[in-house]
Amino acid sequence: MKKQLLLILDFGAHNNQKVAKIARAANVYCEVKPYNISLNDIKNMNPKALIFIGDEETTEPDAPEKEAELKELGVPVMEYGNQKEEEQVKSFIFDKCSFSGGWTTQAFIDDMVEQIRAQVGDKKVLCALSGGVDSSVAAALVHRAIGDQLTCIFVNHGLMRKNEPEQVEELFGKQFNMKLISIDAVDRFLDKLAGVDDPEKKRKIIGEEFIRVFEEESRRLGKMDFLVQGTIYPDIIESVSNKGVVKSHHNVGGLPEDIDFELLEPLKWLFKDEVREVGEALGIPHEQVWRQPFPGPGLGVRVVGAITREKLNYVRESDSILREEIKNAGLEKSIWQYFTVCPGCKSVGVKDGKRTYEQAIVLRAILSSDAMTADVAELPYTLLTRIATRIVDEVDGVNRVMYDITPKPPGTIEWE
Ligand code: XMP
Repeated sequence: MKKQLLLILDFGAHNNQKVAKIARAANVYCEVKPYNISLNDIKNMNPKALIFIGDEETTEPDAPEKEAELKELGVPVMEYGNQKEEEQVKSFIFDKCSFSGGWTTQAFIDDMVEQIRAQVGDKKVLCALSGGVDSSVAAALVHRAIGDQLTCIFVNHGLMRKNEPEQVEELFGKQFNMKLISIDAVDRFLDKLAGVDDPEKKRKIIGEEFIRVFEEESRRLGKMDFLVQGTIYPDIIESVSNKGVVKSHHNVGGLPEDIDFELLEPLKWLFKDEVREVGEALGIPHEQVWRQPFPGPGLGVRVVGAITREKLNYVRESDSILREEIKNAGLEKSIWQYFTVCPGCKSVGVKDGKRTYEQAIVLRAILSSDAMTADVAELPYTLLTRIATRIVDEVDGVNRVMYDITPKPPGTIEWE
C-alpha cells in the first residue's frame, strides 16, 4: 500500500498526540516528529502535508527560523494545529490537501503482514504472551504473517485474575492454533515472594523472576532470531520529543537486555484504539481487546504486604464478583478500572450468630482518561451493597467490604 503521509511537527505542544489521533480517526496515516529533525529526513519521508503543533508557553527560541525553512518545502502547512477545532484539522487534511483517507484497519493488516514476511524470511520468532492487549494483538498479527515460525511463551506467575491463564491457553493455543508454550511457574513465583512485604521488592522479584523463566524457556527452544514486542505509538511519541527523553520506554515488563534478538514491533505505529481494532479484525474477542488496564505485576500489587495463596484467593474471587456485577449493571465501558484489594487487615464480624475474625476487602473503581489522574466512580449505592453482600457471602474468609473514595492524586490507582 502506498501511504500518504501527514507529518506532524512538534514545536513543544503540551499534548502532542491530539492532532495525530484526529488524523488517524479519519483514516489518514500520520507521524509525529520533533520540529528539529533535519530537512533531509523530512524530504525522504515525502509528506503530503505538514501540521505544526505547539503551545505559546513552550515555543522553542529557534522555532520561527525553522518554520520559515519548512514552509519553503512547498508542502501545504497548517500552523498550531493542536489549538484548532477538530473540524478545522479535518478540513485542512481533506479539503486543502486532498488526502484519500485510505489508512484503514484492513489496509494496515495487509501491509504489516507483507512487511513482517519480508523482514522475517524463513527465520524464527519468539513472543512473550502476557494476555494483555498489546502482546496479544502483536502475537496474532505476527502469527497471521508467519504461522508456525512464531513460538509464544506464556508464563503463569500465579498473579492473574480468575480464569485468565485458561483463557490465554484456549484462545491462542486452541482457537488460533499457535505454537504456545505455557509455563506453570506459580509455585516458583510464590516461593520467591513468600514473606516479602515491601512493594518495590515485590515488583522487582516478579519482574526478575519473569525474565529468568523466559530465558530458561527460550534457551530450551534453541536459536530464535526475532523477539516480538508490543510497543505502541504513544510509547514512542512519549519517549522521543524535542526535549529529549521524557520517559524511558519499558514494555513487556523488562525482558532480558542481553538476549541476542532482533526486535519485531508490528504495532509501533498504532494508538491504543487502533491496536484494539486490529485485534478485533484478527479475531480476538471483543472483551479481550477492550479489557481494562491490568498491571504487569498483576494481583501481586493488590495484596498489600506479603503475598499468600489465601490472600490472592480473596482478591481473585472478590474481583471476579465485582467484574460480574459491573458488567451486569452495564457499566463496563464507562469505568476506566475497577478491582478489589486485600489490605491484609482482619476485623471482627458476626455470621449466623457466631463471631468471625476475618479479612476485609476494598473495592476500587475509578474514572480516568490516561491513568495520570483519576476520579472515584460514583457507583450506585444499591450496586455497592449487592457487591458487598455477595463478597461476604461467597468468599470464604472475608467478612467486611469497604469502598475506596480516594482520587489520584493524592492516592495512586493501585494500592502498591
Ligand atoms: P498507579 O497505581 O501508578 O497506576 O496510579 C497507573 C496505571 O498503571 C497501571 N500500573 C501498571 N501497569 N505495570 C503495568 O503494566 C506496572 O507495574 C503497573 N503499576 C500500575 C495501573 O493499573 C494504572 O492503570
